[in-house]
Amino acid sequence: MSRTFFVGGNWKMNGSISKYQELVNNLKGARLDDNSEVVIAPPYMYLLPAQELLKGNNRIQIGAQDAYFKPSGAFTGEISSAMLKDAQISWVIIGHSERRTLFHETDDEVAKKVQAALDENVKVILCIGESLEQREKGDSIKVVIGQLDAAAKSVKDWSKVVIAYEPVWAIGTGKVATKEQAQEVHAAIRDWLVKAIGQGDAEKVRIIYGGSVSGANCKELAAQKDIDGFLVGGASLKPEFVDIVNARL
Ligand code: PGA
Repeated sequence: MSRTFFVGGNWKMNGSISKYQELVNNLKGARLDDNSEVVIAPPYMYLLPAQELLKGNNRIQIGAQDAYFKPSGAFTGEISSAMLKDAQISWVIIGHSERRTLFHETDDEVAKKVQAALDENVKVILCIGESLEQREKGDSIKVVIGQLDAAAKSVKDWSKVVIAYEPVWAIGTGKVATKEQAQEVHAAIRDWLVKAIGQGDAEKVRIIYGGSVSGANCKELAAQKDIDGFLVGGASLKPEFVDIVNARL
């Protein structure tokens, strides 16, 4: 089963009007692998301007970095999946480790956000990953599967979900997981999927890796059996993002 390669660019809280214009125009002008699905996730305020710049371009999709689980109401500072749908933003990242750690997002909130997004037909990049301490204790797979279990109760249709395995110790640290470390966890996630939804559907779900992915390390990671793409932070703000999109070329 060949899964379409998937590369997400998570800009986090970076950029400016001139920077997003530069990044989007660079991507528009680049030669991108036809077999790579590409989603960029700028900060909320650049979502619609980026969409405007991408009018007529059907290669690059846009995602938000988070969305609250209530559709509307008195939740100062939040935006909802209903709003993303209204604005035709097709993807949302949910459960990123920075949300879980810095903003104390729980598994339960992550599950509610996943549910709200899927109910609005917004596709989800679901992030899971262990801390350094958990890895050193040998608990990586246990933690990741626990996070997956918690979010999975909200998912009926896995074709609308991409799972991003992002070990916390590799995010923004320059310390990328080895291809063996990443493949081991991806294989465990695939096994979990096989048990949950059966072999056929499990083979279709994209499991992407995130954490210090760069133009230099993407090719060997992309060659692993269960690594179906990447979620890219720092390098998504640089021209090398194109090399990562083209990792399988
Ligand atoms: P990084 O971030 O590529 O800067 O490590 C990845 C992520 O947080 O999605």
